[in-house]
Amino acid sequence: MSLPTIPQAQTAAGRAPLPLPRALTFTPDDWRILTRYWYPVALSSEVTGGPFGATLLDVPLVIYRVGGEGPGAGALVVADDLCPHRGTKLSLGQDQGDGEGIRCPYHGLRFGAAGRCTAIPAHPDGAIPERMHLRTYPAVERYGLVWTCLAAEPGDEPQIPAVPHWDDAGFQQINCPWIDIEAFAGRQIEGFLDVGHFAFVHHETFADPGNQVVPEYMPVPTADGFEAEYWSTVSNLPAGTTLEVPEDFLWLRHYRLHVPFTGSLVVYFPGDIRLSLMNAASPVSATRTRLFDARCRNFDTDQPLQEVYDFNLQVFNEDRRVVEQQKPENLPLDPALEVHIPADRSSIAYRRALSAAGLSEFFTA
Ligand code: FES
Ligand SMILES: [Fe+2]
Repeated sequence: MSLPTIPQAQTAAGRAPLPLPRALTFTPDDWRILTRYWYPVALSSEVTGGPFGATLLDVPLVIYRVGGEGPGAGALVVADDLCPHRGTKLSLGQDQGDGEGIRCPYHGLRFGAAGRCTAIPAHPDGAIPERMHLRTYPAVERYGLVWTCLAAEPGDEPQIPAVPHWDDAGFQQINCPWIDIEAFAGRQIEGFLDVGHFAFVHHETFADPGNQVVPEYMPVPTADGFEAEYWSTVSNLPAGTTLEVPEDFLWLRHYRLHVPFTGSLVVYFPGDIRLSLMNAASPVSATRTRLFDARCRNFDTDQPLQEVYDFNLQVFNEDRRVVEQQKPENLPLDPALEVHIPADRSSIAYRRALSAAGLSEFFTA
């Protein structure tokens, strides 16, 4: 499926340069680099009409639909969560239920398609100043998520990492509810890529506490990060599954890392059975992350989804407990600052890929 290019009207083109956020938790240089990437900011299903509030890279955003209510319906708007009139948070407003967009909760100004101000109730016959329109960002729905980019240029192709098999016949598409993590997105993704922690962190979900050895593997650079094929006997059977897999089965996990904070993983079960999942760690700030999940599978497709949600929440929380306490809170990109073991090849490749993108230390707060 090809993604649309960004329409001129949905970009900040012609506006003042994107200002640094009021509460900046990154270094300005790192923040500017990070704003060039695409991140999910909501589940498609939670933006019904609107307004829905989210924060990306310290920038408060309001998300709403004009002319439709469900996922994929109407025109989706991602804009600064800030009324140009007196700086009120637009996400405090209410869905007007008329399909025409949102209303500021302070003086009732209306905002519709492409963030245009469409009505000033105090002066219904007056002209609407150009500066009363919202600063908007591109909005793309893909993999059940709403994606945006703060610094996209008109005509840019959305750079949204792939969820392998998502559109393949026989695969069930699933979005687990997001979770908030009080930690840096890089720490979360480092954990996603880590193959040495299963026996110690996930022994109550899918791993065997006695299976601790990490066989050799080798990450390979890609255009936007790296990939790694990891073979081991660590199983990946979810709770409640109907699948049975021999104990000595050799599992392949194919990881792909997309700079800066998105990882995907395809787990090869026996035969052509696959589980494919994406973890997109959306950086709310340098110390807070909203973890989005999009996954698909061609087994257990008639099992209740609540079981999938519950199982994954348990796995996410197992990781969260560790990640929220790591020090330093950021990800040291200088390899000399930490001690490494051969099992860390992916987390070293991750640091190299972030360094190659020009990133430094990520945050100051
Ligand atoms: S502050 Fe939004 S309408 Fe006045
Ligand atoms: Fe984990």
